[in-house]
Amino acid sequence: MKIAVVGCGGMGRVHALEFAKMPNVELVGVCDIVPELAESLARQTGTSAFASFDAMMSSVKADIVSVAVPSYLHKELVIQVAAAGKHVICEKPIALNVEDAEEMVRVCEANGVQLFVGHVVRFFPEYAQIKHQIDAGQIGKVGVANAKRVGAHPGNVKAWYKDTDKSGGVIVDLMVHDIDFMRWTLGEVKSVYAMNKYDDDMDYALVTIVFESGAVANMEGFWGYPGSFHYAAEFAGTAGLVQSDSLKAQSLQIRKSGAEADGGNFVEIPQSPGYRNPYTVELEHFIGCIRDGIEPIVTAWDACRALKIAAAAQESIRTGKAVLL
Ligand SMILES: NC(=O)c1ccc[n+]([C@@H]2O[C@H](COP(=O)([O-])OP(=O)(O)OC[C@H]3O[C@@H](n4cnc5c(N)ncnc54)[C@H](O)[C@@H]3O)[C@@H](O)[C@H]2O)c1
Repeated sequence: MKIAVVGCGGMGRVHALEFAKMPNVELVGVCDIVPELAESLARQTGTSAFASFDAMMSSVKADIVSVAVPSYLHKELVIQVAAAGKHVICEKPIALNVEDAEEMVRVCEANGVQLFVGHVVRFFPEYAQIKHQIDAGQIGKVGVANAKRVGAHPGNVKAWYKDTDKSGGVIVDLMVHDIDFMRWTLGEVKSVYAMNKYDDDMDYALVTIVFESGAVANMEGFWGYPGSFHYAAEFAGTAGLVQSDSLKAQSLQIRKSGAEADGGNFVEIPQSPGYRNPYTVELEHFIGCIRDGIEPIVTAWDACRALKIAAAAQESIRTGKAVLL
């Protein structure tokens, strides 16, 4: 499997370094409009550097192209990759609006190529465990969920993140991880209500989703948080609670309540699953899907649905009303 990477910033480096380590995968080139970034990543990974997508595509033969450019360029690049007949791995968010996202999926389908979107939270071991425990009925029927994801403003380092027309802001860029995870775990969404505090230093959003199942999820996203980056999720069900908090050393905890619990009403069963880098797991999975012809854990249509929920949250902020989906 031959892979090329477009964009050698933060995520492009993650992708290229992962591909360079994988067996049966050859990183055939990396490109960036800032040539020094491409050159230094190429040196580190033993591949070729290019100063543009066109130069790279005319020089290398790739089966898959990873698109890790700023979000406002995803559509343009994904459509070019699909037109060249290559499979695409695109970072999240798939696009900045639902129309663009759906067009990207259709263009990939029309060109017979796969489009994978990097909703990496599905590949975090603790989040995968939460989903697994809920699916197995360990906490009964979920009634209420909470999630948060907070950290420094990425726009302090990379200016394009502060331009909402380029990044989508904290809901579309950051909270979309939790939105996708909630939808994966709790099903389709009935309505969305949101509020935010937005200025150049702080982009904070609080989003409440009501699911068709009747469950409610509250999500917080915060760019400009003065502490360290962290994330947490908690699901309360009729038979117990499952929670994860990246600030805790033991990040995954499950508590079972009721008659089946040992030694009384409430027993805690801590688990610490072997932790693999979620980006390794995600990218290996996408490559495996192409090689073995299997459906990915997260489809491009899932990415469109997550973006649609994020867009509904933005509409709710504009109108001050809940948005029905
Ligand atoms: N999955 C995750 O956990 C995660 C984390 C961070 C960022 N992201 C996403 O990854 C994407 C990239 O974010 P980033 O933080 O790496 O950005 P970045 O600014 O660090 O890197 C983007 C790179 O793309 C290059 N570039 C711009 N236009 C180009 C073009 N036409 N051709 C080639 N290169 C071009 C830029 O010069 C820059 O080096 C965004 O969509 C972001 O939302 C995902």
